[in-house]
Amino acid sequence: MKFLSGKPLLITDTTLRDAHQSQAATRMRLRDMLPACELLDSIGFYSLECWGGATFDACMRYLDEDPWERLRALRRHLPHTRLQMLFRGQSILGYRNYADDVVDSFCAKSIENGIDIVRVFDALNDVRNLEQAVRSVKKYGGLAEAAVSYTVSPIHDEAYFVRLAQELAQMGADSICVKDMANLLSPVAAYSLIKRLKETVALPIHLHTHDSAGTGSMVNLMAAFAGADIVDTALSPLAGGTSQPATESMVSALRDTPRDTGLDLTRLGAAAAHFRTVANSLEEEGFLDPRVLRVDANALLWQVPGGMLSNLIAQLRQMGREDLYETVLAEIPNVRRDFGYPPLVTPSSQIIGSQAVLNVITGKRYQMFSRESKAMLKGEYGRLPGEVNPEVLQKAGIREADRITCRPADLLKPELPENREKYGNLAQSEEDVLSLTLFPQVAEEFLSKRQKT
Ligand code: CO
Repeated sequence: MKFLSGKPLLITDTTLRDAHQSQAATRMRLRDMLPACELLDSIGFYSLECWGGATFDACMRYLDEDPWERLRALRRHLPHTRLQMLFRGQSILGYRNYADDVVDSFCAKSIENGIDIVRVFDALNDVRNLEQAVRSVKKYGGLAEAAVSYTVSPIHDEAYFVRLAQELAQMGADSICVKDMANLLSPVAAYSLIKRLKETVALPIHLHTHDSAGTGSMVNLMAAFAGADIVDTALSPLAGGTSQPATESMVSALRDTPRDTGLDLTRLGAAAAHFRTVANSLEEEGFLDPRVLRVDANALLWQVPGGMLSNLIAQLRQMGREDLYETVLAEIPNVRRDFGYPPLVTPSSQIIGSQAVLNVITGKRYQMFSRESKAMLKGEYGRLPGEVNPEVLQKAGIREADRITCRPADLLKPELPENREKYGNLAQSEEDVLSLTLFPQVAEEFLSKRQKT
């Protein structure tokens, strides 16, 4: 097999964000990171993913840490490496759509406090949900990496993702990420998609996958053959399973090839030694269950993300109906089809999963809807990729005239002026106002505690 590129493969290491979010319930603390920063900074990664995603909420909710303070500290200790964050489009780091002024200010403050690259994605691949974030990141001098959320369905073929990537390039993205959050991208499909993207989009192509189904490192290797510019990996102590494949393995696999990363395995080993201690203590505290490292063949069989399967089991166990597991699994593809094939990623995975449970438990399809199901059908999260089943719309009591066809955030009024007033002296900075806007309850508790000490 021939390499379609002769350039060194660039590596984004995710140990400080996705790896512990995916393996250890997002519980890594700043003090677990700082001792390794000097070493990490000397390795020559393309970037370190270290902020955003669920870490912002987890900092305040579980770790008694100010996420903004964490970012500033990481910036001080990692002066030579690009810092990267994950950003959920119009939902920023939260679970609803925020107004444009919140998105704009969040981008400004992230960059001001130290972020270089903002990876922006939307669960439904509605490009309108990425517009404001991409515009703001560029306005404040950051690099906007726009992501396509990868999934498998009758309407999500290679041409769909190529078209989407071209739209994102036109929007002004600085690089394109193929975000395979559920490890559904097969190694051979990865080769074909990346090759096609390199032929049709004149931007760096960055691949993000997980190892949940056991194919993560094969996907990365095939992407390297096909000419991907950058791939995501995590240091070995927090790699594999629900996390990314290991950095050291990738570096070693490409040694003395045209795509040699040039990264030093000895330094990587020293950094890994530090994170092995961290991973061990996370395991002792009960946050890292070794079961997340097993290959999840059910994910391969049903093409649903591993996290969604464990949610389903928990939901059914609560109702004492674990016997319905297989029936619910068989119902998921039906619901997904009726809803226009949304990719299964937060929040659509929970919405589709819960609707499948309702359909099975009540013994009759669409007799009951959750509030979120109705909101999704109505278009509150954005445009669904395919056609929605009109019968289902009717059963949900949604008329064609009720459906939102504009960009959902066009219906939202600016939120910050009111919040700046409302939070008065609890918020000592614009950063605090943003924390309070995204997570009102959690941030209020965290900031009141800080005020008292
Ligand atoms: Co991920």
